Amino acid sequence: MTNRPLNILFTVSEAVPFAKTGGLADVAGALPKALAQKGHNVAVVMPRYYGIDKSALRHLPGPLRVGMGPLGQKEAAVYESRLPRSDVPVYFIDHEAYFGRDGLYTDEAGESYGDNGERFVFLSKAAFALCEQLDFSPHIIHAHDWHTAAQPLLRNTRYADIPRFKEAATVLTLHNLQHQGRFDKGLVAYMESGWEVFNPYVLEDHGAVNLLKGGIAAADAVTTVSRRYAAEIRTPAFGFGLEEHLQAHAHKLYGILNGVDYEEWSPATDSLIAANFDRDDMAGKALCKSDLQRRFGLPQKADVPVIGFVGRLAEQKGIGLIAAAVHGLLGLDAQFVMLGTGEKWAEAFFTDIAARHPDRFACHIGYSNELAHRIEAGSDLFLMPSLFEPCGLNQIYSLRYGTPPIVRAVGGLDDTVVNFNPQTGEGNGFKFYDATPEALYHTVQWAVETYKNAPDTFAALRDRGMRARFDWDRAATEYETVYYAAYFGRQAKRLQ
Ligand code: ADP
Ligand code: GLC
Repeated sequence: MTNRPLNILFTVSEAVPFAKTGGLADVAGALPKALAQKGHNVAVVMPRYYGIDKSALRHLPGPLRVGMGPLGQKEAAVYESRLPRSDVPVYFIDHEAYFGRDGLYTDEAGESYGDNGERFVFLSKAAFALCEQLDFSPHIIHAHDWHTAAQPLLRNTRYADIPRFKEAATVLTLHNLQHQGRFDKGLVAYMESGWEVFNPYVLEDHGAVNLLKGGIAAADAVTTVSRRYAAEIRTPAFGFGLEEHLQAHAHKLYGILNGVDYEEWSPATDSLIAANFDRDDMAGKALCKSDLQRRFGLPQKADVPVIGFVGRLAEQKGIGLIAAAVHGLLGLDAQFVMLGTGEKWAEAFFTDIAARHPDRFACHIGYSNELAHRIEAGSDLFLMPSLFEPCGLNQIYSLRYGTPPIVRAVGGLDDTVVNFNPQTGEGNGFKFYDATPEALYHTVQWAVETYKNAPDTFAALRDRGMRARFDWDRAATEYETVYYAAYFGRQAKRLQ
């Protein structure tokens, strides 16, 4: 019975290769494929932002009509494409007023759009309307983060009596608890969920709407992207105010570690890097390193370790710790390469450090997938000192590219990186625990010294990392288990 193929509606705000600001897009570009390979029918639904070229997509007939309460009916065009190297359909909701913008969530100055609540409630509802239009009856409605967290609640309220959704169970995946979708309570009217759900056990949060809170309450199952993060978010240090709410719903909370799309992230086949390499032939890695040093204007020294950083320049990523420790770090015999965009102070600060220490520190403020690949491949060590990290993907890419990660032991970083133990010779990276510049500095120093003074030990550690595998197939199997539990659990409840 549990082999039954499921129809899965997968609504998300970004997906590789169409639109990406972070790891959510990597997940949305890969998990549906892994589920499809297991025989399930997955339909991905996302916005058509300006960055997505319409001419490459198929236009579906008829406008989609989506009721937005007092705002009336709004129309959207729908376009279709496939996830690359798969048959998984992706449906793009094209509505000029909501998604005809360059940014996904923020304007050029980095400010959140004022109508984000409305925009993503519209997306959440459009996905339901699309099911009607496509004659698609989902067994599972899988929502992601605050952007589509309205769906579980909508399923139980606005769409509760529509036959095609009667059997549907809802799953909400939390990729990041920091962003909860807090909006003015007027959003309830646009949701058409009824005001009964606007109470502190479901959607209300200090007088405002909290979409993530409502989604957690309403979903049949809630998942997050590592086991460790699933435990952490039930505590005040990581719960961002929702810890008690999550504790109350802990019986339906699961941790499923993300996978990696090794078709995109493998040094043996990567077409974006200077030379390919693999465990049994590491020669290409040295070429990648000198290429990286040259591109970033650093002295091309083979024996000085290059330490890479790729990521959003957000507090979450520990940029404050790096900034506080930077003068100590610059005293080490190492080179630093940083790629990222984000908080303005950080962009200015690291640009300035690079200008003052051109032989030690290089940074590129911007977004570049190619440079991200080149940094993974050409660095000797990878720095990821996050304050919190639901899963984290870069450290997993690093392991695969023979670039041992230096991480803070939180969330998915703790679940994927095994600390080096000089006594037993175990481990594939370097971990620290306290969120202090000193702990960061000493751990980087430890990694640099291991690299310089114990090359054989370092090579063995690197090799253990390259052997580790984080396949999407394993994650998809775990999602399947949660889907069946949610689906059959809901059926059972109907018998009560
Ligand atoms: P998060 O989703 O919190 O940003 P993850 O580690 O899960 O963190 O995923 C980040 C993803 O975004 C990775 O695929 C990473 O390579 C990519 N990325 C982040 N910043 C940049 C950048 N400036 N240029 C290119 N890729 C980036
Ligand atoms: C979020 C998290 C990151 C995670 C990604 C994909 O953006 O910050 O840790 O890897 O989602 O799940």
